[in-house]
Amino acid sequence: MNEPNHLELTSVAIDFPTDKGPFRALDNVNLKIEKGEFISLIGHSGCGKSTVLNIVAGLHRATHGGVILNGKEVVEPGPERAVVFQNHSLLPWLSAYQNIELGVKQVFKGKKSRVEIREWIEHNLELVHMSHARDKRPDEISGGMKQRVGIARALAMQPEVLLMDEPFGALDALTRAHLQDSLMEIHATLGNTVIMITHDVDEAVLLSDRIVMMSNGPAATIGEILAIELARPRERLALADDARYNHYRSAVLKFLYERQRRPEDNEQDSKPAAAQVSGASDKPGEAADTAALRLVSG
Ligand SMILES: Nc1ncnc2c1ncn2[C@@H]1O[C@H](COP(=O)(O)OP(=O)(O)O)[C@@H](O)[C@H]1O
Ligand SMILES: [Mg+2]
Repeated sequence: MNEPNHLELTSVAIDFPTDKGPFRALDNVNLKIEKGEFISLIGHSGCGKSTVLNIVAGLHRATHGGVILNGKEVVEPGPERAVVFQNHSLLPWLSAYQNIELGVKQVFKGKKSRVEIREWIEHNLELVHMSHARDKRPDEISGGMKQRVGIARALAMQPEVLLMDEPFGALDALTRAHLQDSLMEIHATLGNTVIMITHDVDEAVLLSDRIVMMSNGPAATIGEILAIELARPRERLALADDARYNHYRSAVLKFLYERQRRPEDNEQDSKPAAAQVSGASDKPGEAADTAALRLVSG
């Protein structure tokens, strides 16, 4: 008998109601994800990445097909699937500690003692290197720190599946690089399944086991899947000269800028599509600084 699948999207399609009738945002999306896999979703703005994530989160319901997690159909949000959005969504009147506590109590009330709950919150603050700011409120800390707390809050709920919608999109390049490293460390330690949406090609290659590249909408679907067979732990600097790393990176760029070129790009001028990746660097370390490969975000 085959191993049962961990997370499986089967023939997922979704229609959104609009004034002009139903709008089919996604069509025939099929994806099988193994436990502990790190998946990146990449594609042009508006193609349907967030919609895919929201369907897995149980925030949207597919019109056709559906999602099965550990043999059970996903029909609503659940604590085994935590979501991290681009804008942290912390409660402004609570400290970092209290924001995490809120999530932890929801999951562990009656299962952990008061002392255990405190230790667990402190442990998760430590995982994201935020112990020093445990009593600070969101308006007292930087964007990167807020995002760390948001990630700690998600992790503290011990989700089997971590869903991240452009989690580092609003951060400066250096903070982004630090958080990518933390996320790799955490993933190596905890082994959660991760689905992360990103606009950053380097981020996708550095972090992922597979990159799922989506075609343009309407009726967007999965265009190609690229398996990233680079050994872990991965070091951004060591990968700078790695031929396979650069091969993966250009495969994603080719998909996005040649195969899935957006119609409006054709109208701009006669420059080759790749020229729109201004300042593209061959070194992943440098690319983080120039943020050269970030796609136009919508
Ligand atoms: N609630 C909604 N109602 C109508 N259309 C929507 C809704 N949510 C998303 N869409 C449309 O579905 C498409 C995919 O959106 P989205 O998943 O947000 O794209 P992405 O995250 O890739 O930028 C877009 O054309 C968007 O306008
Ligand atoms: Mg989105």
